[in-house]
Amino acid sequence: MSKTILITGGAGFIGSHVVRLFVTKYPDYNIVNLDKLTYAGNLENLSDIDKLPNYTFEKGDIADEAFIDSLFAKYSFDGVVHLAAESHVDRSIKDPMAFIMANVFGTVNLLNAAKKYWANNFEGKRFYHISTDEVYGALEETGFFYEDTPYDPKSPYSASKASSDHFVRAYMNTYKLPVVISNCSNNYGPNQFPEKLLPLAINNIKNNKPIPIYGKGENIRDWLYVVDHARAIDLIYHKAETGKTYNIGGHNEWTNIDLIRLLCKVMDKKLGREEGTSEKLITYVTDRAGHDLRYAIDASLIEKELGWLPSVTFEQGMEITVDWYLNNEQWLDRIVSGAYSEYYNNMYK
Ligand code: NAD
Ligand code: DAU
Repeated sequence: MSKTILITGGAGFIGSHVVRLFVTKYPDYNIVNLDKLTYAGNLENLSDIDKLPNYTFEKGDIADEAFIDSLFAKYSFDGVVHLAAESHVDRSIKDPMAFIMANVFGTVNLLNAAKKYWANNFEGKRFYHISTDEVYGALEETGFFYEDTPYDPKSPYSASKASSDHFVRAYMNTYKLPVVISNCSNNYGPNQFPEKLLPLAINNIKNNKPIPIYGKGENIRDWLYVVDHARAIDLIYHKAETGKTYNIGGHNEWTNIDLIRLLCKVMDKKLGREEGTSEKLITYVTDRAGHDLRYAIDASLIEKELGWLPSVTFEQGMEITVDWYLNNEQWLDRIVSGAYSEYYNNMYK
């Protein structure tokens, strides 16, 4: 059945994989990608699909009330898949207000527009909010985050995401807005902005630059290949019961130092370097303020109820990822030089 779906943040890392999946898997859907094109938004991420007839790009800010209202008036959206956000913890420590504006204000703005335009008929409508495992806080060495783990966000980023999750649930409780939420662990894969650990380390290893490891490198993250997150989002959008929350994760915990050592090994092989060469680039630096020790997701609910499972092993995902960055040097170079932001002006005059 034909649908018009608004995907926010579609020029970003995860959003671009979600847009690609929806545009190619559902040729009868109209996919509208709304993105402000902040430093993290890169339309080059979608250059392989941006000519397809069921794809439209709209540049705009989710926090701009008049713009969002006009967008909902222009398109009769059947659903919203909301990914747009400020996403980097270190930036949130420097500038929390930007996170409140995009993640809290922007989300509530979208909720208001959906409420207004869907008010008389919620039938077949869905507002899907993409969130993070960081809302649950930090774990010690054992235990997992479950869907009913109490919220305990500890950084300005996670506090802003927790706040947006609360607003989404409040709009369902108060106005009956049909919502679903998912909270995912750390994603890795092609197209991730090189401020995040893995692409930053790949870029530095390639260029023989120091790899900064915060503190002792003992913090633990649960890594999931980005396409498997996009597959989970597709399943949840289409199959989840209204009001449900699903946790998504890779059952794949690594300390930062072990992860980077593995990456160094893979890259030494790919770059034809003697084993151990890239490890010498590891440099311990001042820890992140309030650095969460460990995240780990129990993803058994989505596995059991929706039949989702990751499609690649971590070893396969790392190979694909490293190959992608090495084969797409221009993508990295254009980000580092800032040239990527010119793409919009050339494409969308
Ligand atoms: P990203 O930073 O790569 O992309 C964010 C996108 O949102 C960019 O294209 C940016 O231009 C856009 N954007 C930011 N502010 C906007 C605004 N005010 N209006 C319109 N567009 C705006 O982020 P990502 O890593 O792809 O994360 C996407 C979503 O998934 C976020 O909501 C994030 O909280 C969530 N998430 C990320 C991870 C992860 O590991 N990266 C894990 C779990 C959840
Ligand atoms: O858990 C999901 C979250 O994962 C998402 O909600 C966030 O949007 C996403 O950015 C990510 O947050 P992290 O803070 O875990 O990701 P980041 O890549 O910034 O850092 C991963 C780990 O590596 C973390 O423990 C901090 C550490 N780190 C990071 C950088 C950038 C370093 O040691 N050195 C670095 O230079």
